Amino acid sequence: MSEPSEKRESASRPEMEPSIWEISRPGARGVRPVSRPVDVTDLPPGICRQTPSGLPELSELETIRHFTRLSQLSRGVDTHFYPLGSCTMKYNPKVMDRVVSLPGFADLHPLTDEEGMQGFLGALWTFSELLKEVLGMDAVTLAPAAGAHGELTGILLARKYFESRGEAFRTEILVPDSAHGTNPASAAMGGFTVRTIASKASGHIDLEALSAALSERTALVMITAPSTLGLFEEELSEVVRKVKAAGALLYMDGANMNAFLGVLRPGDLGFDIVHINTHKTLATPHGGGGPGSGPVGVREFLSPFLPNPRIVRSGKKYSVVDGEDSIGRIRSFHGSAGVLLRALAYMRMLGEEGLKRVSLYALLNANYLRKKLEGVLPGMGDGLCTHEFVLSARSLEKEGVRAVDLAKGLLDAGYYAPTIYFPLIVPEALMVEPTECESRAMLDRFADDLIRLVGLAASDPDRLHRAPEKTPVSRPDEVKAAREPVLVDPLAAPVRR
Ligand SMILES: Cc1ncc(COP(=O)(O)O)c(C=O)c1O
Repeated sequence: MSEPSEKRESASRPEMEPSIWEISRPGARGVRPVSRPVDVTDLPPGICRQTPSGLPELSELETIRHFTRLSQLSRGVDTHFYPLGSCTMKYNPKVMDRVVSLPGFADLHPLTDEEGMQGFLGALWTFSELLKEVLGMDAVTLAPAAGAHGELTGILLARKYFESRGEAFRTEILVPDSAHGTNPASAAMGGFTVRTIASKASGHIDLEALSAALSERTALVMITAPSTLGLFEEELSEVVRKVKAAGALLYMDGANMNAFLGVLRPGDLGFDIVHINTHKTLATPHGGGGPGSGPVGVREFLSPFLPNPRIVRSGKKYSVVDGEDSIGRIRSFHGSAGVLLRALAYMRMLGEEGLKRVSLYALLNANYLRKKLEGVLPGMGDGLCTHEFVLSARSLEKEGVRAVDLAKGLLDAGYYAPTIYFPLIVPEALMVEPTECESRAMLDRFADDLIRLVGLAASDPDRLHRAPEKTPVSRPDEVKAAREPVLVDPLAAPVRR
């Protein structure tokens, strides 16, 4: 039996941790370097510091306690259930960190010559081959540093391809309104005009709207599969047929590939370009501002345009080459090495069957949870979802309760909140992605708590309006913080003591 969530979380609001500048103590040190006189006379004038750096001063233990306390003020995958839809906040096996810490990888300098990094190049080459297989594509680049960067890379590939065919008049990219928000942003950044295709009430692409928008100006149609509504396009083959007939290319935002890894291959579905978020799907956590990686797979006819540098194998030797028709470099060195190596180790550890199980459990967990919440909050689609689902809290508006109130209530109940108000096409949206890693007990507990909170909307809505009461900060003015950020550079200011 799981204990009630109210008991699991402590009742009182935890104290906010002071900033590292506030706990700085003059003279405190983590490490005392051996003091040796340094001759600075050879250094160019003007580069030597005349005043102390102003860095905070703490002992090693104080530093560790500070950051450990900070880490505990928030909810994280390692401490709480984290159903943040679209972001795939799943557990990433710690053994992958051991793999990237192997000295042969961790100590490798990025400027090491080819001879000195044969093992590393071989690992990346192997990973590209595995990705080609999983994506059903002919060639892959590992260079992009994130999902959105993968999108931009794919868009630049499409542009170069059409230019090479004398079809630079293709200046439009069509994006369904169920696509991830980065798709239109990347298309605009790539210099294209974005046209939005409205979805049908069911959340699927409206074929008539698509046909009306397709023209000789269309370069690319970008489809998020599964869509941000957690739906798989029911008429995908018709979409593919129409796009190809218009002479355009078809892009798949495969950041949600954890829904069909090892089960379906984008290449087999008819896509020409696809990116995958290795930092959602393949063993690196998403979010937190850390490095990501968005490898892109393409069909053969697009491979000449792939970014440089490329890794090729001849016999047992790996070398780094540049392609003449490439769109050029989009990232330094060979991409986010640690993320790529973790992904390779994860794929190798799971094997074909294991990867398939990842997706089947992701689908099972999402559908199980959705079913439990059915009847409490309405969802999109016909009752089945892929790896995530979207609920609408609109029915609670009459009680003065909104999606944000449920999300804040969930924080008090001991969870990270689902994504809210996204996708934009669902009013009062709550987007839930349980991921494949959670147990049935956890899903049951979460469903019970969400149902209890929905009940509070009628019995005690103010309780929800006051939430969260168990976090160090309750409801900061997020709009103000985003529109009027007050950024402080502590090193520019005198240290507070
Ligand atoms: C469907 C989808 N596409 C694109 C992205 C963008 O990826 P990134 O945040 O790595 O740029 C995300 C991120 O979660 C996503 O869920």
